Amino acid sequence: MAEMAIKKRRPKNLDLPTIRLPLPGILSILHRISGAAIFLLLPVLLWLFQSSLSSPETFATFREVVGHPLVRIVLLGLIWFYMHHFCAGIRYLLLDLHKGVDLESARRSSKVVFAVSIALTLIIGARVLW
Ligand code: HEM
Repeated sequence: MAEMAIKKRRPKNLDLPTIRLPLPGILSILHRISGAAIFLLLPVLLWLFQSSLSSPETFATFREVVGHPLVRIVLLGLIWFYMHHFCAGIRYLLLDLHKGVDLESARRSSKVVFAVSIALTLIIGARVLW
């Protein structure tokens, strides 16, 4: 009965654009989006990679396509998705072990995930794409 009363008194805000999500919340949503994107795009990437290796001509075409600035930006985005998913995944595994679960540590580790994943993306992008 007391539980019901508490539930009834809880404020409700269904106007989603007015909700300011904290950094760990943004990280969490991006982790889900990146996981789904990697899952969906992995077959396409494997197919592109396999067809690039089937003959010297297809490899030359592949290099030409990947050399286009727009394609490079998309690939950079994909690298960031993977790096974000990887770094945030490690953070979640640590949270599952009850490491860094207090608010301050959770906020700090979200900042670390963004900083490390962006730095890794730039390093890998510079080495692989440019
Ligand atoms: C091919 C690579 C990968 C794919 C396709 C993938 C895909 C996904 C998807 C779809 C989810 C569910 C997200 C959600 O609905 O919230 C997920 C969750 C998760 N992934 Fe990955 N993932 C990949 C690689 C990795 C790697 C390398 C790590 C290592 C750090 C990782 C760690 C995690 C963790 C810990 C969760 C659960 C997060 C939670 O507790 O909510 N994943 N992954």
